[in-house]
Amino acid sequence: MDTLGRRDHPDAVCDWQARIKVEAYDKVVACPLVRGCAAGGDYPRALFGGFWHFVDAFPGIIRDTYANFPVGPLGHSLRVYLRRVAPLLSETLGGMAGEERGHRALWIRSASRVGLSAAQLRDWRVLPEISFLTEAIRSEEHLARRLLYFVGVELVAEGIARYLYRAPRFVEAMGEEGMEWFTAHLIHPDGAISHEVLAYRLSLSVKRAARESADEQSVNADIQRCVDWFFAGGVACAREANYPGGAG
Ligand SMILES: [Fe+2]
Repeated sequence: MDTLGRRDHPDAVCDWQARIKVEAYDKVVACPLVRGCAAGGDYPRALFGGFWHFVDAFPGIIRDTYANFPVGPLGHSLRVYLRRVAPLLSETLGGMAGEERGHRALWIRSASRVGLSAAQLRDWRVLPEISFLTEAIRSEEHLARRLLYFVGVELVAEGIARYLYRAPRFVEAMGEEGMEWFTAHLIHPDGAISHEVLAYRLSLSVKRAARESADEQSVNADIQRCVDWFFAGGVACAREANYPGGAG
């Protein structure tokens, strides 16, 4: 956990983390939902409505990771370590959960730009793929892996923001207010450490304490599993958007 104090280069990402980010980004831009959003039409509604279930749940999933994490499966050394760093862990994850609550509010604002009210988001049909990814992250009892899923979520969010920020039709349709969710995942205030970096640091610290492998291959496997769930969710939402009346 000592690395959490390293604030000189808050967003420094090492080579292998940069490779993981590129692999995730390539999947995001290949996703038909994201490409459809860039082109216009009904896809933005499918994005905001389709992924609402996860966006709504995510702050609570982060909170439960420090408030109600199952201690059963943890080994002795990890349990001792977590007792020692509990205040720092809860402070870091508590901050992330708070910011994600803010992102959830920005999502509602973005959705309103395409005519979706908060009530319509709440009533949007939850597709099995979206339910699956939400529950897979929520129910992951391996702490380091769950934290790597948080990295995956951030990479997907940043990838969507990066791609759609450069899509003129989308930017025009969303307006400045509607783009705030996207800005929040692209530009971090001076001195702020991104959720990607925080989740990496926490996960790698936990892995060290648990004496688990933290090589690129194993870390990437967990992250890309999460990214692939989102890709499948995006495919499902795009499919729904192609069948008017099927969504919402
Ligand atoms: Fe977010």
